Amino acid sequence: MKFLVTGAGGQLGREWTDYLQLKGMNFTAYNSSDLDITNKVQLNTVIGEEKPDVVINCAAYTKVDDAEENTLMASKINSGAVEELALICKEKGAILVHYSTDYVFSGTEEDQKRLPNGYKEDQEGSPINVYGSTKKEGETAIKSSGCNYLIIRVSWLCGKHGNNFVKTMLRLGKERDTLTIVNDQYGSPSFCANVVENTMVLLEQSKNGVFHVTSSGLITWFDLAKEIFNLKGLSVNTLAVSSSEFPTKAKRPSFSKLNTDKIATIDGIKIESWKEGLKKLIEQLDQ
Ligand SMILES: NC(=O)c1ccc[n+]([C@@H]2O[C@H](COP(=O)([O-])OP(=O)(O)OC[C@H]3O[C@@H](n4cnc5c(N)ncnc54)[C@H](OP(=O)(O)O)[C@@H]3O)[C@@H](O)[C@H]2O)c1
Repeated sequence: MKFLVTGAGGQLGREWTDYLQLKGMNFTAYNSSDLDITNKVQLNTVIGEEKPDVVINCAAYTKVDDAEENTLMASKINSGAVEELALICKEKGAILVHYSTDYVFSGTEEDQKRLPNGYKEDQEGSPINVYGSTKKEGETAIKSSGCNYLIIRVSWLCGKHGNNFVKTMLRLGKERDTLTIVNDQYGSPSFCANVVENTMVLLEQSKNGVFHVTSSGLITWFDLAKEIFNLKGLSVNTLAVSSSEFPTKAKRPSFSKLNTDKIATIDGIKIESWKEGLKKLIEQLDQ
C-alpha cells in the first residue's frame, strides 16, 4: 500500500511521516511548499505521478482566530481544495483520509446536558466559527464526491511536533509562577500518535465513513494544564478563569466532546484515557 501525505510539515503530518518511516512503509510526504493543495494543477500532477493507494490529508488552515478575517483563504484550503482532492481520489481510485474537528459542532451548554457522552458521528454539525464552518464544508464535499473516504474528527490535537497546548504549558510552566487557564470549555485531547495508530487500524480493516478519534474522559483546559504540571513536577499556581476573561476573535464551543462509541467496537482500536495519552506524550517529549 502506497501512502501520500499532504501538509507533512504540520503536527499531525510529521507524526504520520515518523510512523510510516518507522514501519518501513511505502510513502511520499509533501509539505506546503512542495505541494499546495489549493493548486489544482499541482495536485493532479503529483497524485497522477505518485499513484498512491491512500492520500492522508493533514493540510489545513488551522488558525482558528485568523480564519474569522481570512475567511476566503480558510475556505479555499479547508473546503475548496478538499473537494478537489476528493474528486481526484475518486478519479484515481485512491482512498482519502481526511481530518476534521470537534469545532463542526456548536457545543452549547444545552448539548452538554443532552449529550453527556459527546457528539456522535452522525449528529448534524452547526459550527459557531469560520474555521468550523469551512471544515464542515470540507466534510460535505468529500461525502458528495463519491470517493472512498475516512473522515476522522479529532479534538484538542496534541503531539510531539509543532505547536499545541501541552507544549505551550510546558514552556510557560517553566517561565512563570502563576498561570490563568480557561475552565469552562469541556472536551478531551486527541493525541497524534494514537490518532495515527487508530487511523491505520481503520484503513487495514477497509472501513469508510466518519469516525471520532479522541481520548476518554471529559475535562477542561484547566484540568489538562494541572495534570501537565503534576506530571512534570512543576509548582505553578494555577487560576481557573472563564473564557470571557480571554476574549478571542473566534467563539469556541463550551462543550466539544466527541463520542467514541463507534470506534470502540472495532478490533484493534485503542482508546486511551486522557491521562494515559498525556503521560505518553510527555514521555515522548522528554526523550
Ligand atoms: N490542532 C488542533 O487542535 C486540531 C483540532 C481538531 C482538528 N484538527 C485538524 O487536524 C488536522 C491536522 O491539524 P494540525 O494540528 O496538524 O495542523 P497544523 O500543525 O497547523 O498543520 C497544518 C499543515 O497544513 C499545511 N498547509 C496549510 N495550507 C496548505 C496548503 N494550501 N497546501 C498544503 N499544505 C498546507 C501547513 O503548512 P504551513 O505551516 O507551511 O502553512 C501545516 O503544515 C487538520 O485537519 C485540523 O483541522 C486540529
